[in-house]
Amino acid sequence: MDKIVIEGGIPLKGEVVISGAKNAALPILAATILAPGVHELYSVPPLADIRTAGRLLGSLGIKFPQGPPGRSGTPGSSGQDAPLLVDSSGLEGFEAPYELVKTMRAAVLVLGPLVARQRRARVSLPGGCAIGARPINLHLKGLEAMGVKITLREGYVEADARRLNGADIYFDTITVTGTENLMMAAVLAKGTTVIKNAAMEPEVGDLARFLTAMGAQIEGIDTDVLTIHGVKELKPASYIIMADRIEAGTYMAAAAITKGEVTLLNAPMPHLTAIMGKFTEAGVRLSAEPGRITLQPGGALHGVDVRTLPYPGFPTDMQAQFMALMSLARGASVITETIFENRFMHVSELVRMGADITVSGNHAIVRGKKTLQGAPVMATDLRASASLVVAGLAAQGLTEIHRVYHLDRGYANLVEKFSGLGARIQRMPE
Ligand code: EPU
Repeated sequence: MDKIVIEGGIPLKGEVVISGAKNAALPILAATILAPGVHELYSVPPLADIRTAGRLLGSLGIKFPQGPPGRSGTPGSSGQDAPLLVDSSGLEGFEAPYELVKTMRAAVLVLGPLVARQRRARVSLPGGCAIGARPINLHLKGLEAMGVKITLREGYVEADARRLNGADIYFDTITVTGTENLMMAAVLAKGTTVIKNAAMEPEVGDLARFLTAMGAQIEGIDTDVLTIHGVKELKPASYIIMADRIEAGTYMAAAAITKGEVTLLNAPMPHLTAIMGKFTEAGVRLSAEPGRITLQPGGALHGVDVRTLPYPGFPTDMQAQFMALMSLARGASVITETIFENRFMHVSELVRMGADITVSGNHAIVRGKKTLQGAPVMATDLRASASLVVAGLAAQGLTEIHRVYHLDRGYANLVEKFSGLGARIQRMPE
C-alpha cells in the first residue's frame, strides 16, 4: 500500500483542470444497462470507483475497457479525450455481488436499471460504512410502490419486477442515489412516475440529461419534483459528464489554506454557489467567469459557520475540507453536519496536527490556530482523507497520509495535479 507525503507551507500557484464528476459518472455508467448498444461517454474520471463500476458492468456482460487512466478509450480526465465506449449489447446477468458492493456502495445503483431492463435483480445490501448507517430502505419502498416484489435473503435484495408500473413516490428524506435508482427504474416502467422531494443535486440532473439523450421522457429536471413518462425502449447515447464540484471545492480549499493563487479550469461554477459563498464569507478572494474560478491571496481568513444540507445547500462532501480551512482561520466556526451521523472522523486526525476542534453531537466547534504541524495521519473515508491533504499542504513540516486508497477512489491524478501547482507532494510505498 502507498502513502502520500506532503511538505507543507508552500503557497499553491498555477492552473488545475477539474475532472469529470465521480458521482455523476457512477449512475451514468449504471444507466448504460438500460439500452443495448455502444454508449460514448466523455470525461469519465480515472478513479478506482470507476474501475470498480467497470468490473461490475463486466460481470453483467457489458464491455467496459479497463486500461491505464487517460489512455484513448479508457477513463480520461477532460472532454477532449477519446470517449469511453461502453458496449451493453451483451447484457446477461442481474446480480451485483457482495464482493463488489462492499468495496463501493454506489454499486447499488445497478438495482434500478436491472429492474427496468431485466425485470429482476439480485443486489447485495450495502451495509453500514465509515460515515453512517446509510440504509437503502427508501430505494426499496419506491420500487415496491412501482409494483416490484422485494425480498431480503441472505444479505441480498431480490427484486422481481414482472410488474413495473408508474407510481407516485414521496421521499421522507432526500436521497441522491435513491432518486437516481427510482428514476432509472421509471424510464422503462408502464405509465407515469412522479418523484416528490427528489434530490436536486446536479449529478441527479446530469443523469436525467443522459437518460433524456437515450430517449427517456423526464420533466422537472433539476427540481424536486420529477415526472417520468415510461417509454418502451431506450437507445445508446453519447454524453459529456459534468465537472466535479467537490473536486473543485477541494482545490479551492487547498488554494485558500496555502494563501495561493490558483485558477480552476472546467469548474462547474453554477453548482458551486453555496461553496463559493462560504469561501467569500471567510475572506477568500475569488473571481469567477464561466468555466474558470481564480483564488487570490487576500487578507486574513476568519471563522464562519457552516451547516451541511442537500443541494443547493452546502454539501456534506465538502464539510471535512472546509473544516481543515477553518482550523487556520481567525476566530471560531461552528460546523454542523446534518446529512450523515458519523462524518467527523477527520476531527481527531486534524487535532493531531494541532487543530483546536471539539465535537458535540453533530456540531464541531473549530477555534482557529496560527499554525498546524505535519504528522502521520490516516482517515476512514474519501472526504476525510481529502481534508488531511488540505491541512497537510498548509502545515509546518511533513505530513504522511496513510490509506491512500480512499483518495484514489475519488480524486483523479491528485499527486500530479498538486505537484503541477507547486506543492511538494509525493506518493511512495509504505
Ligand atoms: N437515507 C435513508 N434511507 C435511504 C437512503 C438514504 O435514510 O434509503 C439517508 C442516509 O442515511 C443519509 C441521507 O439519507 O442520512 C442522505 O443520503 P443519500 O442517499 O442522499 O446518500 P447517497 O445517495 O448514498 C450520495 C453520494 C455521497 C454524498 C451523498 C449526500 C453518490 C455515489 N454518493 O450518497 O457521496 O455524500 O449523496 O450528498 O452519489 C462521496 O462522494 O464522498 C460521497 C459519500
